[in-house]
Amino acid sequence: MMDIVDALLKHHGEIRFLLQKAGHEKQRFGGLRKNLEVHHRNEELYFLNHILDKEEVGDAAAEAEEEHYVISFMLAALENFPHDHKRWAVKYEILEEFTEHHLKEEEEDIFRWVRKYLPRKDLEELGRDYEMVKKRQMEAL
Ligand SMILES: [Fe+2]
Ligand SMILES: [Fe+2]
Repeated sequence: MMDIVDALLKHHGEIRFLLQKAGHEKQRFGGLRKNLEVHHRNEELYFLNHILDKEEVGDAAAEAEEEHYVISFMLAALENFPHDHKRWAVKYEILEEFTEHHLKEEEEDIFRWVRKYLPRKDLEELGRDYEMVKKRQMEAL
């Protein structure tokens, strides 16, 4: 059964793939944006909000939520900037670097600890909820 860490890692993989593609295949940008929005909303709801009060990872979780906020600004800026302008690519590169760094930090600073110290049953329940809601929201327009 897929626990919340598996579910988030799987989505990180999908996001990394799109991040590498959407810089030059701009028709993929909308898909990247949607995946990041759905990922962040539900990562907060089914994961980060549950560990904000843990001494060992609370600060890292709060930092991750603030970074989501920064990424949403960058996505909006890219969405509204002419895609064929050469500065679009410069802006995109910053989004790509920042987001890669964000994904890596979550995996290294939070996911490992959570898997080691939180009850298996809770992780599985959250994983099931995350997968269900992600699927529904990705299918909706
Ligand atoms: Fe995140
Ligand atoms: Fe994440």
